[in-house]
Amino acid sequence: MVRILVIHGPNLNLLGTREPEVYGSTTLSEIDAMLSELAGELGVEVESFQSNHEGAIIDAIHDARGRFDGILLNPGAYTHYSLAIRDAVAAVGLPVVEVHLSNIYQREPFRHRSVIAPVAAGTIAGFGTESYRLGLRALAHLLQGDRAQRRN
Ligand code: DQA
Repeated sequence: MVRILVIHGPNLNLLGTREPEVYGSTTLSEIDAMLSELAGELGVEVESFQSNHEGAIIDAIHDARGRFDGILLNPGAYTHYSLAIRDAVAAVGLPVVEVHLSNIYQREPFRHRSVIAPVAAGTIAGFGTESYRLGLRALAHLLQGDRAQRRN
């Protein structure tokens, strides 16, 4: 079965109470529960991880090699400047779908640039918690397509 690692970056542990006008009122554990339910429907397995630390996120990306087929990643503010996370994504070569709750292109100019986007398979932003669900669908589609191709 296709295995997907979900990585939530800094401050996302505070979802539910953090700037609800921007990020909504759903908590991170509710998002993880939604993703587990959708994973069941899609026939994939998901495991979720959250960290406020850049190095821990990099370690999780490295450790995903051989254990997961792809990564659903919300890098939080690291999106905009962490070349180290970008390099980790490029180094492991696993397909990564980048997701954001908010539409980063409608917000402050410093959020308009993602250093992760050029190494991601694709990006989904602006749909609130639905961004995660759309991202999981997109990644599952990509990975299940890969598997079918390898079988043929
Ligand atoms: C975010 C957008 C980032 O700019 C911000 O720093 C976050 C959350 C989002 O999901 O909308 O922490 O990644």
